Amino acid sequence: MSRGNQGVDESDGSPTAGTDRYGPPCWFADTANVADAGIRDRFAEDWPDCWTVAGDMLDWDREYETVLNRDEGHLAWFGDGRLKPSHNCVDRHVAAGRKNAIAIRWIGADGERESLTYLDLQHEVEAVAAALRSLGVGPGDVVTLFMPNVPELPVTMLACARLGALHNVVYAGFSADELADRMASADSDFLVTCDGYYRRGSAVGQRNTADSARLQVDADVTGVLVGRLADDPDLGRDYHSYGALRDEFAGAEVDPVARDAADPLFVLYTSGTTGEPDRVTHTTGGYLSYAAWTATAVLDIRPEDTYWCAADIGWITGHTYGVYGPLALGTTTLLHESPADHQAGGHPWASIERESVDVFYTSPTALRSMRQRGAPPADEYDRSSIRLLGTVGEPIDPSTWHWYRDELGGGEAPVVDTWWQTETGGIAVATLPAVDPMQPGAAGPGVPGLSVDVVDDDGAPVADGEEGTLAVQRPWPGMCRRLASEGHGAGAGRDHPDAWRYVTSDRAVRGPDGYVTLLGRDADTLDVGQAAYGTAVVERVVSALDGVTEVAVVAISEDDEVAAYVSCDRSSTDPDALAGRVRARVAREISPAVRPNRVIIVPELPKTHSGKVMRRLLADVVSGRGYGDTSALRNPEVVGEIETVTRRQE
Ligand code: WTA
Repeated sequence: MSRGNQGVDESDGSPTAGTDRYGPPCWFADTANVADAGIRDRFAEDWPDCWTVAGDMLDWDREYETVLNRDEGHLAWFGDGRLKPSHNCVDRHVAAGRKNAIAIRWIGADGERESLTYLDLQHEVEAVAAALRSLGVGPGDVVTLFMPNVPELPVTMLACARLGALHNVVYAGFSADELADRMASADSDFLVTCDGYYRRGSAVGQRNTADSARLQVDADVTGVLVGRLADDPDLGRDYHSYGALRDEFAGAEVDPVARDAADPLFVLYTSGTTGEPDRVTHTTGGYLSYAAWTATAVLDIRPEDTYWCAADIGWITGHTYGVYGPLALGTTTLLHESPADHQAGGHPWASIERESVDVFYTSPTALRSMRQRGAPPADEYDRSSIRLLGTVGEPIDPSTWHWYRDELGGGEAPVVDTWWQTETGGIAVATLPAVDPMQPGAAGPGVPGLSVDVVDDDGAPVADGEEGTLAVQRPWPGMCRRLASEGHGAGAGRDHPDAWRYVTSDRAVRGPDGYVTLLGRDADTLDVGQAAYGTAVVERVVSALDGVTEVAVVAISEDDEVAAYVSCDRSSTDPDALAGRVRARVAREISPAVRPNRVIIVPELPKTHSGKVMRRLLADVVSGRGYGDTSALRNPEVVGEIETVTRRQE
């Protein structure tokens, strides 16, 4: 296959994104799932019926006749259809002769591998569904799953779906309080958890956390315990054994329950760097079809692929693109117990080579951490299996984007920067890799069928190049139930679909070609003097400086001053000189108004479990407000040092 680029280097003049553009490589476009250059126009003209492309990817028990039902002010995608989600993700692939294809390949923290074919997956899901049913789980019940990336997690999710029960996955690193809140708020009387798991080389207990959460929940909770550390964990009086139940019900046949398209499939709480966790409920038909279609069109996943979504299943990315999307397509999804930047050897290259990964999807945070450790020489691990790279979760700066494409994609694989949220269910803004040129630093236009705009505080569109809030102007199938019942802003979903609008919480700028550059969440703005600047704008110019690994800028309260927290490659960087370079660069490239008054060099930035920088905490520390509870952080141990360094420099 000859690998070369079509067009290169058109500039769009956008002030914030990089200005280089790269056409889809010919070798990629020739075989891509979606290569129709007119797709956006077709979708726009034929909306909402264009979404039959997503609906028709699924098997329906009762075919839908209406693509978008707008009765009673409630938007229901494929509203009169009925379907079985676990049939769509499992049984139909077995029935289609792919029973020996690998559905899930799991790689444990110590490198052990376990493979489930689609037939194995069906047997596991049926056994666990039968077990849950014997414990009283039925349609509409909420089952809380408190487990890391182990095979039992997707199996139990699909077992819930098979019974018409809703899963409520809680990220395994959360504290007992957070677990209890999410169980109580979701009205969940069932808990499936594990004795513990492995993280960064050590065993982490999970049972005590689950036990204390149960003490806080008023309901009588039925518990099931997976033995990850021990084959036969102590169950006490409070748990049934997952392993024993699974063996008892091995061979059971459980017919999947058919659900209305608009019935809930699961609940999940948003991670939130800014406020309280928020419950999001996704639908069975709209969500699943949108997961399948975006996995095809944006991530270009095919049934024969080995695909690695490096997110934890505890987040929406793991739900949509680790479990539901790839399994609906019948592909092999890789599930790693450890995050991509904590694989054996501290990097993902060995796994990419060994598993021959075709498509890799990760976050800018993980990429920056890999970059900081350094890539192995290009000839040490074979990366030629990679066809497409994706990122999600935060803005990716052009410098990290290029590093990603060079080091993981051999300088050739297309990179898709995908913007979306727990609420959107699936990717909402991205380039289509075989259709649209890539522009490092800009996520791209809306996915076909979604029209995106940037609006001011009154909801009026701002001029191209002006900063505002990202808004989506038309409903799409993956939207969560709350958006389907309210919309945001205009909220006139029933009679005037064109007046419907979802105003997100993200700051953005749109270029003349419709490409959107994300600037961080609304809360992530620097208010200095009369002006507000997106943190991402400032951070992007700082992160382009040699030696800088990561940066977060925050306002120092009431002073109209700015602090930049920077982590750098200490072996090659003089911190004093770096501070001067940071200040000069920001003043020159953005404005003296946001030139950081303080540049504070820290070993690492505080991150949430899903890898987002916790700017709120940095603002609290630098403003002298203290920092409170750090259980939402994946690296709470750095906070003490950040505080010490901050005080020392005062
Ligand atoms: C941010 C994760 C810039 C954004 C799927 C959004 C991004 C929040 C991108 C949702 C991206 C996600 N570029 N920012 N490509 N992708 N975000 O709910 O602020 O965990 O609102 O969903 O992540 O986070 P959530």
